[in-house]
Amino acid sequence: MKLLVFAGSARSESFNRRLARVAADAARAAGAQATLLELADYDIPMYHAELEARGTPPDVIRLKEAMDAHPAWIIATPEYNGSYTGLLKNTLDWTSSPVAGHPVFADASRPFAGKVVGMLSASNGALGGLRAQSHLAPLLLNLGCWLAPRAYALPRAASAFDAQGQLLDAEQQAQVADVVRQVLWAAGRLHGEQA
Ligand SMILES: Cc1cc2nc3c(=O)[nH]c(=O)nc-3n(C[C@H](O)[C@H](O)[C@H](O)COP(=O)(O)O)c2cc1C
Repeated sequence: MKLLVFAGSARSESFNRRLARVAADAARAAGAQATLLELADYDIPMYHAELEARGTPPDVIRLKEAMDAHPAWIIATPEYNGSYTGLLKNTLDWTSSPVAGHPVFADASRPFAGKVVGMLSASNGALGGLRAQSHLAPLLLNLGCWLAPRAYALPRAASAFDAQGQLLDAEQQAQVADVVRQVLWAAGRLHGEQA
């Protein structure tokens, strides 16, 4: 199973980028082929329709291709003002917008519909970014994703990782691995074990 993992933060010391790495490692330990993608590697401007009408940026196409190539995704979202980040929203807006005349992405259902998606979040607060997940969930469902019912929000994230980026608490590690396993299980049934 091919799993795409990314965080809605580009911050170098991001808790969510660290959590995404933990999830990718857990996926590999479970036998999946995990791709850890960094949104900072994609040069994507703020969306507006006139800009798009002049041509979808090449990095948006590149990101759509990466998303399309993976039947299962894990998204680790930060929480900004009780919701997910502008970076993540802008990314999802661009990548969900059909590309006129494109051989694959003129189809408005690509790359979102049918993807199995698991949500993670991390914050230094007590709720671990849970409210960001509650905003992200309806967006993903609206785009036709199969949202995994179990998610995990990592609280007190500033003290949760060791110097190597591993989670210090075995129970928290198990919670992340559970979300990953659930996504791989569901994607295997929807897309076939070999996807
Ligand atoms: C504009 C802004 C709003 C924030 N709002 C929240 C919030 O509502 N809840 C929360 O737990 N943390 C909030 N934070 C703190 C973030 O959780 C923190 O910056 C975190 O490190 C972001 O995730 P990252 O480490 O993956 O970049 C906010 C941060 C910013 C910059």
